Amino acid sequence: MKTRHSKSKRKPLACLILAAGKGTRMNSARNKMLHTLLGVPMVAYVVERARGAGAATIVTVLGHQKNEVVKVIEDRFGPGSITVVEQKEQRGTGHAVRLGLRPLLGFDGWVAILYGDVPLLRAETLAALVTAARRTGRLAMLTSVVRDPTGYGRVVRDDRGLICRVVEHKDASHSQHRIAEVNAGIYVAPAAFLRKATAKLSARNAQGEYYLTDIVAQAAAGIGVVSVQVPAEEMTGINDREQLVMAERLLLGSIVRGHMKVATFRVPKQVYVEASVGIEPDAEIGRNVVLRGKTRIGARARIDDGCLLNDTVVGPGAHVLPYCVTDGAVIGEQAKVGPFAHLRPGTVLGPDVHVGNFVETKKAQLGRGSKANHLTYLGDTLVGEKVNVGAGTITCNYNGYEKRQTVIEDGAFIGSDTQLVAPVRVGKRAVVAAGATIVEDVRPGVLAISRAPCKQIDGYADRLAERYRKKTSR
Ligand code: UD1
Ligand code: CA
Repeated sequence: MKTRHSKSKRKPLACLILAAGKGTRMNSARNKMLHTLLGVPMVAYVVERARGAGAATIVTVLGHQKNEVVKVIEDRFGPGSITVVEQKEQRGTGHAVRLGLRPLLGFDGWVAILYGDVPLLRAETLAALVTAARRTGRLAMLTSVVRDPTGYGRVVRDDRGLICRVVEHKDASHSQHRIAEVNAGIYVAPAAFLRKATAKLSARNAQGEYYLTDIVAQAAAGIGVVSVQVPAEEMTGINDREQLVMAERLLLGSIVRGHMKVATFRVPKQVYVEASVGIEPDAEIGRNVVLRGKTRIGARARIDDGCLLNDTVVGPGAHVLPYCVTDGAVIGEQAKVGPFAHLRPGTVLGPDVHVGNFVETKKAQLGRGSKANHLTYLGDTLVGEKVNVGAGTITCNYNGYEKRQTVIEDGAFIGSDTQLVAPVRVGKRAVVAAGATIVEDVRPGVLAISRAPCKQIDGYADRLAERYRKKTSR
């Protein structure tokens, strides 16, 4: 006995992911597997689990929009990361597994069967299921005791409490409908057993489908069945949009709780944080903050209410004031941004930089201690250190054909309401007077002033009033 088990322990694992379903209840033009939870397509969570479990081969059974699903998986995990089997006609989970086993011809290890629409399955749970199968040599299946078992296959146990079979909801008797323990549909079994058992399935049931669940009775009469129980949330299949966002909320809750160990979320239920986001100790996150993609929040940084950050690196101690939108930006240590600032891709703010309200930046670098505090557009711009960019400054970076660069050197002072018509350079410590239109390079240290002289015409207001008085009385 012992030798058989220790020998089977060493055998490799393959994963079968069933994902051929159309997902009719999503009412979507897009395949259900491609709908996202926290920005990641649901099928990717399952592929990730299979990889995490150390699967030597991952076979994915696909049907509807097969090519789109493969593309999404390969973009994420690399070409050849999965073996694809097409199931043209959905004839049931048993039929899908039969097809999925084809590329595993001659494979003598363990096979885990996962569902593409059950993305909340935790890595620990799958590992426990694999261990249970390896340790006992039996079919290991995941079950859950739920409040409302409607729609699920029920787990039927004998007087001794051993699992003898699974009955689908549509095939269940009145008394079986009352069984609260349901089948999660996730199994680990020896490949040889699955091959034999799925070959024997028939479609003589309420749905006229090949039920994979019928392998449970076969195992009960043969290699034996062992079960691992999980909380209901973890095995929830996603069939409609309501379940999609409920599952997303569960995931989000665990992500935020994880970050809360070191960072403060003022209203943890009102944030959106993708799994790929990193948050360092003592960061503070306000209400309605959205953190996406490769965003990193540095130690002691503060992100105030209503900010949306995508792929943004926030330096230690930086402060992003309310209602900023940033994308592909780097915010330096102790920098201050917003309220209402828009940092677009290629923005790099150095340490202690201030970017204030209604300022938009794109491909703009601002050196240490520089400021652009009000109503400004900086595009394709290189700003040195300790530069002051006055209110209403605009870099005119686009001539209708191409984007061109503006350079503002260290210590320069740009007066309010200036237009810098690129390509143009303002030299070190130069002062540009308010209201200038700069079309040529400004030398270091000079005052650049471009203003039409102001004329003052006496008596004008009275003459204007006189003119309009006559007009109305006519
Ligand atoms: C299945 C189980 C049920 C269990 C439930 C858990 C069977 C017969 N029933 O029911 O006991 O409680 O899951 O969620 O297995 N798929 C294919 N090809 C097919 C049919 C299905 O790839 O021909 C895929 C679907 O895309 C989906 C998964 O298999 O990812 C499950 O199929 P679904 O029809 O949703 O199974 P249920 O009826 O929910
Ligand atoms: Ca079904």
